[in-house]
Amino acid sequence: MLDAQSAAAAPPVIRREDYRKPDWLMPDVHLEFRLDPARTQVAGRLEVTRNGAHNRPLRLNGDGLTPLAVLIDGEPQADAWRMDGPDLLVDLPGDAHVVETRVEISPEANSQLMGLYASGGNLCTQCEPEGFRRMVFFIDRPDVLSRYTVRMEADKARFPVLLSNGDRTASGDLDGGRHFAEWTDPFPKPSYLFALVAADLAANVDSFTTKSGRPVKLAIWVVEKDLPKTEHAMAALKASMAWDEKVYGREYDLGEFNIVAVADFNFGAMENKSLNIFNSRYILADPETATDIDYDGVSGVVAHEYFHNWSGNRVTCRDWFQLSLKEGFTVFRDQSFTADQGSAAVKRIEDVRLLRAAQFPEDAGPLAHPIRPESYMEVSNFYTATVYNKGAEIIRMLHTMLGPQKFRAGCDLYFARHDGTAATCEDFVVAMEDASGVDLTRFRLWYAQAGTPRIRAALSHEPAGARALLTLEQTVPPTPGQPEKQPMPVPLRIALFGERSGRAFEEERLVVLDGERCEILFEGIAERPVLSINRGFSAPVIIDAARSAADLAFLSAHDDDPFARYEAMQQLMVDTLVGAVSTGQADHGPVIEAVRTTLTDPALDSAFIGETMLLPSEAFIGDQMAVVDPVAIHRAREALRRDLGGQLEGEWRDAYERSRANRFELSPQAKGARRLRTIALGFIMASGAEDAAGIALRQFHEADNMTDRQGAFGVLANSLAPERDVAIAAFYDRFRDNGLVLDKWFSTQAFSIRPDTLDRVEELSRHPDFTLANPNRLRSLVGAMSGNQLVFHEAGGRGYRFLTDMLLEVDGLNPQTAAKLVPPLGRWRRFDEGRAALMKAELQRMLDTPGLSKDVFEQVSKSLA
Ligand code: ARG
Ligand code: ZN
Repeated sequence: MLDAQSAAAAPPVIRREDYRKPDWLMPDVHLEFRLDPARTQVAGRLEVTRNGAHNRPLRLNGDGLTPLAVLIDGEPQADAWRMDGPDLLVDLPGDAHVVETRVEISPEANSQLMGLYASGGNLCTQCEPEGFRRMVFFIDRPDVLSRYTVRMEADKARFPVLLSNGDRTASGDLDGGRHFAEWTDPFPKPSYLFALVAADLAANVDSFTTKSGRPVKLAIWVVEKDLPKTEHAMAALKASMAWDEKVYGREYDLGEFNIVAVADFNFGAMENKSLNIFNSRYILADPETATDIDYDGVSGVVAHEYFHNWSGNRVTCRDWFQLSLKEGFTVFRDQSFTADQGSAAVKRIEDVRLLRAAQFPEDAGPLAHPIRPESYMEVSNFYTATVYNKGAEIIRMLHTMLGPQKFRAGCDLYFARHDGTAATCEDFVVAMEDASGVDLTRFRLWYAQAGTPRIRAALSHEPAGARALLTLEQTVPPTPGQPEKQPMPVPLRIALFGERSGRAFEEERLVVLDGERCEILFEGIAERPVLSINRGFSAPVIIDAARSAADLAFLSAHDDDPFARYEAMQQLMVDTLVGAVSTGQADHGPVIEAVRTTLTDPALDSAFIGETMLLPSEAFIGDQMAVVDPVAIHRAREALRRDLGGQLEGEWRDAYERSRANRFELSPQAKGARRLRTIALGFIMASGAEDAAGIALRQFHEADNMTDRQGAFGVLANSLAPERDVAIAAFYDRFRDNGLVLDKWFSTQAFSIRPDTLDRVEELSRHPDFTLANPNRLRSLVGAMSGNQLVFHEAGGRGYRFLTDMLLEVDGLNPQTAAKLVPPLGRWRRFDEGRAALMKAELQRMLDTPGLSKDVFEQVSKSLA
C-alpha cells in the first residue's frame, strides 16, 4: 500500500537483528581541520586494524563528501579505492594500515546543523548520531572507539577560541594572522562524541575538585554580553558533579570540562566528551529573560549532559538500537538529581505530565516503537519520548523493584564491567540481575514491547470479614508490527484509605502484577476502603479503576502521597470533562469543591497547589475519547475554567494576593508562589471579572522577572481585550534583540485560543524575525501551532496545510527538524472522518513531493500505513 503511494523509492531499513561486529577497528585517529566558514579542509589519518579473519574492504562512511586524496601508508592511491554511494571503499592488503583522506566542506552552507556548521559566525559540530561522516570519511558507528588527536587552524582574529575534546596539548601562532591548537583526548570514544568549536566567545571560568582531589577547570563559553547569564548553568554543573559522586560514586575524569552555547541547534544539547555543546536556551538564564521553567530546563539539561560522561561516554552504545541504554538511564539520573535539588513531588508531577503529553500519544499511534526499536530507516527519528522518557520510566521501575541499594550495586557492576566499551541494553539488565539476584527475564519485555499497558483495578469490600479484595487485570494494546503482546511485570505502589478516618489502613504495598491478572487480599479493613494505586506513578501505565467522584475528591484531599493527590484531582477533572463532552451535561460541583479544598489548605505549598489546579490539556482529554472532538473538548474545558473562576473568585484573588513577592528570588517557595500567581490570574480572567485584563496588564508591566511577565502575557494572549495588543507590542519592543525571548513572543501567540490565531500565525510566518533556519524559532511558531489542538484542527484543514507547507520548506534545509513536525498529522485516526481525510491528504502531499528526505519519508509513510 505504501510503496504504491510513494513517489520516492523507500530508503533501506536497518534492523537490530542484522548487527555485525565491525570489520575494521581504528584505535588511533588524527584529524586536521583548516577552518574557514566557506571552505574548510579536513584531513583524517586513521590507523586501522582488521577485526577477525575476512577479506572485506574498509568501508569509510561519508555523507556528501568527495575524496580529494586517499593515501595508504603514506602512498597516494588512484586505484585502491572506489565510491559506493556516499561511502568510500578502500582495498587493504594487510591487517594494519594507515589510511589518510582529504576533503573540503563548507560549514556556512550546512543548513542541516549536522556535522561542522556555522552559528552566529562561529563554527561548531554536531555528530550524534551520524554527523561525523559529513566532515571526514570514517567508520562512523558507535562501537568503533578511537583515541583522537586533533589539530585545528583558523584565523586568529575571527576565531580566537579553538576547542576540542580532552586536553589542549599545543597551541601557537601561524603566518597570515592564523593560529592553531592541538587537542588530545586520552579516552577512546566513538565518533558521535567528537566535537570541535572555533569561535569568538568568552568564558565563565570556575573550578571543581573531585572527591579524590582532582582539580577540574570548568568553562562555559558564550558571546561576551551573555556572560552574566551563565551563573545558573555553572551552579548546576557543579551541583551535578557533586551529586554524581554522592549518589552514583562517579567522578569526573579529565582536567577540564567545557560547555559552549550556540543559537542554532537541532535539539537540547550534546554530551561530547569534555566539550558539551548546548542550544543556548539551556544555558542562558537571568530573571529578566528566563522563566522559572527555563531555569529548571537549564539545570536539568546541564545535569543530563554531564551525567552522560558515565552513562553514555565511559560506557557507550553498541549500536543505535541501544540508544535508550544511555538516554533512558541518563534521563532517570537527571530526573533524580532535580528531585533531590527541589521538590520531588512537583518534579514527579511534571515528568508524568510530559510523559502523558508526548509519549503516551506516540505509543498509541502509528509511530509507536519499543524503547529498544527493532528497525529504522533514519536513526534521527528515534530520539523520541519513548526512547528517552519511557526509557527513564523503565529504569525507574528497576529502581523501585530492586530498591536503592541493589539498584546502585547493579549500576556499579554495569560501569565496572563495561567501562571503555560499547554495551547493550541486555548488558545493563544482566548487570542488574547479577548484582541483585533478581530474575528479570520477564522484565525484559519492557524493552521489546511497545504500547502503554492498561490496568483494570477493581476493589471489593466485605465488611463482615473486614476484608478487601483487589483484582488487577493487564492488557497491552497492539502496536504497528506487534499485534499480540505478553503481559509485563508492572510494579504498583498501592494503599487503602479509610473513608471515615481518612487514614491509611496499613503501610503502602508494592505489588508486582506479573501476569494478566492477580488478586490481592487486604485484611483488617473494617470501614469502606478507598483505593490509591500507582502511587508516585510507579509504572508507566494507564489505570482504569472506575472510582467515584467522591472517592477521587477524598483522595485529592487525604492521600499521603503527593503525586497520588495530584493524580486524583486530575482524574476527577478528566472524568468530569470527558463526561461533559460525551453527554453534553456537566456537573462541575465536585471539581469546584475539591479545588476549593486544595486551594485553601494551609498545609500545602504553592508549587504543589499550582500543579494540582492545572486543568488537563485538551490533547490529554482527547486521548481519553474514541473520536476526538476538538471543539467540544475546548468548550467543555473552558466552561469548567469559567465556573472554577467564577465560583472561587474570592479564593483566586486571595491566592493571587498572597503570592505577590517583594523581590525576586529563585527559592522553591518563591517559584511556587509565582506559579500559583499566574494560574490564579488565569482563573480570575476566566471568571469574566471586569478588572481582570487590567490586573493582567499590571502584572505584565510591573513584573521584575520573566515568569510573571510571560505568565501575564500568556493570559492576555488568550483574551479579546485591548490589553492583549498593548502586551504584544510592549513585549516585542522590549525584547526584539533577544532571540530566546522572541521565541516566547512567537509561541505565546501561537498557543492562543483566540478565534483568529491561525490568521495571526500566518502573519507571523511572514514577520521579519521569523526564520526557518533556526530550529528554536521554527518550533516556537510552527511547533506551537500544531500543539494547539483547537487551532491546528480548525475545520477545513487550514492548520494542516500551513504545517505541511512549512514542513516541506524546512525539509529542503534541515530534514531532521522537518521530520519532528510530522507526528501531529499522524494522529488522523483519532479524528472524525472529515478531519482524518484532510490530515491524510496532507501526509500524501508530502509523500508525493519529489526529493523528500528519508527522515520525513519514514515518518510520513509510517503515519499513512
Ligand atoms: N545525546 C543528546 C542528548 O540527549 C541528544 C542527541 C540528539 N540527536 C538527535 N539526532 N536528535 O543529550
Ligand atoms: Zn541524552
